[in-house]
Amino acid sequence: MVAVHTRERLTVTQAGGSAGAYVTGLDLSRTLDAAEVMGLRAALLSHLVVALPDQTMTLDDLERLTDQLGGRDMTPFVKPLDGRPFVIRILKEPHERLNFANAWHTDLSYLKAPPSFTLLYCLEAPPYGGDTIWANQYMAYETLSPGLRDTLLQTDLIHSAGSAYGTGGYLDSVKGKMSTVVEPSKDAYREETHPAVIAHAETGRAALYANPVYTSRVAGWSQAESNGLLQHLYRHAVNENFTWRLSWRKGTLAIWDNRCTQHFAMNDYQGFRREMVRTSVKGSEPQRAA
Ligand code: SIN
Repeated sequence: MVAVHTRERLTVTQAGGSAGAYVTGLDLSRTLDAAEVMGLRAALLSHLVVALPDQTMTLDDLERLTDQLGGRDMTPFVKPLDGRPFVIRILKEPHERLNFANAWHTDLSYLKAPPSFTLLYCLEAPPYGGDTIWANQYMAYETLSPGLRDTLLQTDLIHSAGSAYGTGGYLDSVKGKMSTVVEPSKDAYREETHPAVIAHAETGRAALYANPVYTSRVAGWSQAESNGLLQHLYRHAVNENFTWRLSWRKGTLAIWDNRCTQHFAMNDYQGFRREMVRTSVKGSEPQRAA
């Protein structure tokens, strides 16, 4: 018999002033009904990041939820799990010093159509530390000066995975030191151009779309000119007032919206193990905000 869940059971509790909510009342080991998916999406669009604690999920459950939110997408340059081409493992063992994603970024912004959402499920959490922090990029845009906002509305930025995943890039240089299995490639140097300010595909709100891992320069500007503007944007975009931080426990699933957030994985749990599995939901090509 298929269990039926009603939307009334879904409770959304705001957890931060700039982003973040806890969603309870859903059992993710079962197929959500249409009303529950709608409720979860609504929570995501309002709060940008949602955390669903105390879930017991298999990889099938994670993939099914990913499909229900819009369909699975590949994660280039990270080795997927055997037999699960859409699932990656993010793992730091107790003896390792480096962790994965210890820099502000928006997932896969170097793709033509980056993922709309990311799902990250915690299989093992350290006793302290290892939090993930998100920053609200609607706020980042809205708090720039009117003059810079106007300029950015007409600006394109170049994105590439090269400095992270390119042959000879950062992750290539440290890949023997991390259990998260990366696959550096010369293909990572491929460039994609996106507007500096995008209109969120569902809410229509304008969000800053620049991140220090994947944005490489301003279209039509020299690298030196680009660096000045981009460094300013990167600092501004992650102002503490725009952020929310999640302390993980085994069984927590977080889902975030890549069209209006950046995130950062803390590396402050030396000597402990942290293991997560991650999927991405197919997105669309970012469009310029008006
Ligand atoms: C990621 O950026 O996908 C990983 C975030 C984390 O491990 O907290």
